[in-house]
Amino acid sequence: MKKRSRRRSLAAGLLMGGALVVVGSGYAVVSAETTPAPPAGTTSSVEQLQLGRQLFLEGCSSCHGLDGEGIAADNATGGNGGPSLIGVGEASVDFQVSTGRMPLAVPEAQAPRKDVLYSQDEIAALAAYVATLGPGPANPTEEELNLEGANIAEGGEIFRTNCTQCHNFAGSGGALTDGQYAPAITDATPKQIWQAMVTGPQQMPVFSNETITPEDKKNLIAYVESLKVEPNNGGLGLGRLGPVTEGLFVWTAGLFFLIAAAVWIGAKVR
Ligand code: HEC
Ligand code: HEC
Repeated sequence: MKKRSRRRSLAAGLLMGGALVVVGSGYAVVSAETTPAPPAGTTSSVEQLQLGRQLFLEGCSSCHGLDGEGIAADNATGGNGGPSLIGVGEASVDFQVSTGRMPLAVPEAQAPRKDVLYSQDEIAALAAYVATLGPGPANPTEEELNLEGANIAEGGEIFRTNCTQCHNFAGSGGALTDGQYAPAITDATPKQIWQAMVTGPQQMPVFSNETITPEDKKNLIAYVESLKVEPNNGGLGLGRLGPVTEGLFVWTAGLFFLIAAAVWIGAKVR
């Protein structure tokens, strides 16, 4: 008696589960027609792509076009305009949105880092959706961002060769031409540093995995991380230009003090 009812509820459960699978896959087939298929080799689900597409239409399409094809800034509708996102890849979207650069609020010479408007899940959805528009740079894997055993000295070498001319020795940034600037990179997470290298936002060149190997990217990121924790022994923020500049500063200040003292003594004597 007990046994039979248990068997019956098991059968009902199986039937229910089967029905759910049928309905669910039917739904997936229907909705797959309206959203792009996940690109091969990614783990994005249909739901994630739908969310991404929806967020894109609401927050990005006014400047980047309904299908990410881009809008000219000076078009007849007076729209803000934005470049095509076809082929920029998930790394670019993740970088731009996770640093708050996008959505752009006001058109200006350079999109600054600002408060982030989307959750981590929403950013992933936006990135996954844009990645379906065309192949582009992917986000780094966890393994690629595992800094354990990275060579900081080697990373410093690569940083000085490739990055200091714009971002300065301390990674604190500097001015470029045309009112543009290279920002401080010490606010960026390891993931964002990687993304900046593979996507090259605005004036920044792209450092592909051929130019700077994944191994060297890891070393470089470990070096930038070390800049964040290293106390600035210079005391005064002179851009860590080294002992010569700082020595010069002390020397000038000392000279100024001596002159002031001489003038003061001279005035007393008279
Ligand atoms: C007000 C207009 C505007 C809105 C809204 C906007 N963008 Fe942009 N976007 C721009 C402009 C202009 C640029 C190019 C200048 C720049 O990179 O700073 C740009 C650049 C980008 C880039 C870099 C493209 C590249 O070549 O690597 C990405 C990615 C991007 N936007 C994604 C988004 C996403 C995602 C949203 C919605 C969350 C969004 N944008 C909303 C105007 C806009
Ligand atoms: C030619 C000048 C130039 C060089 C060389 C350069 N960058 Fe940049 N970098 C820029 C500019 C300009 C931006 C800001 C772009 C924007 O806001 O869209 C930037 C942005 C960044 C950011 C984002 C900062 C943030 O948190 O918002 C990081 C990280 C970064 N660069 C890392 C690097 C690294 C690492 C290298 C060397 C491998 C490098 N850059 C080389 C010009 C440069």
